[in-house]
Amino acid sequence: MVSIRDRIIIALDYSAGEEALACARKLQGTASYVKVGMQLYYGAGPSIVASLKDMGFKVFVDLKVHDIPNTAKGAMQSLASLGVDMVNVHAAGGKEMMAAAREGLEKGAGNGPKPLLIAVTQLTSTTQQVMNEQIGIPGTIADSVQQYARLAKEAGLDGVVASPLEVKLVKESCGTDFITVTPGIRPVGADTGDQKRITTPEMAFSIGSDYIVIGRPVTQAQDPAAALSQIIEMVRNENGTT
Ligand code: C5P
Repeated sequence: MVSIRDRIIIALDYSAGEEALACARKLQGTASYVKVGMQLYYGAGPSIVASLKDMGFKVFVDLKVHDIPNTAKGAMQSLASLGVDMVNVHAAGGKEMMAAAREGLEKGAGNGPKPLLIAVTQLTSTTQQVMNEQIGIPGTIADSVQQYARLAKEAGLDGVVASPLEVKLVKESCGTDFITVTPGIRPVGADTGDQKRITTPEMAFSIGSDYIVIGRPVTQAQDPAAALSQIIEMVRNENGTT
């Protein structure tokens, strides 16, 4: 059984590598998984992944790849060679693209551990109106998330990024082993910032999220390690897990 600590991914949303590493140093020994998104990857370059790995962290590189199958495959091969633990693609790229991404990832990982490949379904910032009227997808967000999750599973992916509110639906359609990674997490009393549909860490785990992604409530705290420890304790107490 994976411990709660290993299921909390801290989003290091900084542009400068030095700032991200300073925050990571404060979290060493408390956090085990960090996320490098576009801001940090494009600002600091791929070497940031090696620096974080050298510090002992697992690294989720969140670049949401969406391109023709051959390019997605090459991108994943390059990312795998950096030693990443989790990467993602947009399910909207289709089954062939997702399958090519899987192939590239496995090729890049060689005989090493296989990184998890996760699909982005509908971004949590997308409303139903935008999806229907601008993107041109009919139906509800839930319908679309369900369809994309099924497609990702058929393409051989490990799971999806989804709102905690969609976890149940994804597990019902794709099985409990299909991984859900959920952002939009706020401990009680934390500043919500720009996140709209939020869930507490305790609630996210109790509804079945496999991994939760938390950024500012930890990284912007005066003492990030203490903030994270408090979250871990709360989840352990509420959910009776390790
Ligand atoms: O600071 P905060 O906890 O809001 O950070 C959440 C992280 O999760 C950010 O890096 C954000 O880009 C990412 N994310 C999200 N919603 C999605 C996908 C990713 O908030 N649907």
